Amino acid sequence: MIIAIDGPAAAGKGTLARRIADALGYAHLDTGALYRAVGLGVRRAGQDPADAAAALAAAQTLDPAGLTDPALREEETGKAASIVSAHPAVRAALLDFQREFAQSPPHGAAGAVIEGRDIGTVVCPDADVKLFIEADLEVRAARRLAELQQQDPSLRLDEVRAEMAERDQRDRNRADSPLRPAPDAHLLDTTDLDIDGAFLAAMKVIGGHEE
Ligand code: DC
Repeated sequence: MIIAIDGPAAAGKGTLARRIADALGYAHLDTGALYRAVGLGVRRAGQDPADAAAALAAAQTLDPAGLTDPALREEETGKAASIVSAHPAVRAALLDFQREFAQSPPHGAAGAVIEGRDIGTVVCPDADVKLFIEADLEVRAARRLAELQQQDPSLRLDEVRAEMAERDQRDRNRADSPLRPAPDAHLLDTTDLDIDGAFLAAMKVIGGHEE
């Protein structure tokens, strides 16, 4: 059983995907963390994320098991991730790992919940259930600010909103695997939902599929 969850930044994909995976006993993969690790690798090497060769080198040396660095969650890393993820060679380098995870989830789990931007369209076009999570920019920016302010209380909403709008724009308009709902995805708008509400709505879709 493969559940694909896509959507823009801070729409609530991560929390939702973890919760669904916990409830069903499935494995969970946050593919954004893979791209963030590539972006962070490039930053740490003092190179430019727009440099395709530098980004590919970081993707080829990526250890998907070691994605615990707190710097992965920084906004600067999210931006670098969005830039490196536009290079087709970087996407190709990360594809096998993601598909393998979906086909043979670790620890013998009976299913996988995989979240990202192109899971339902490119990574797992045959996923059993596809969810596309959306929320208004204003609400997403406020959610992300609340998360980021734990590290940096000086951050402002307008900065986070502008950064996020730019990142979504880049993710939606790139030529290779842009952010977009698969034709058979269920759209779930979490603007007016808290996490419990989003979880219940998602489980309804998943339950409907199983019947
Ligand atoms: O989900 P996130 O914010 O951690 O993702 C960071 C960036 O990685 C996102 O802006 C675009 C890229 N990404 C991608 O291109 N494809 C994915 N499947 C997941 C993330």
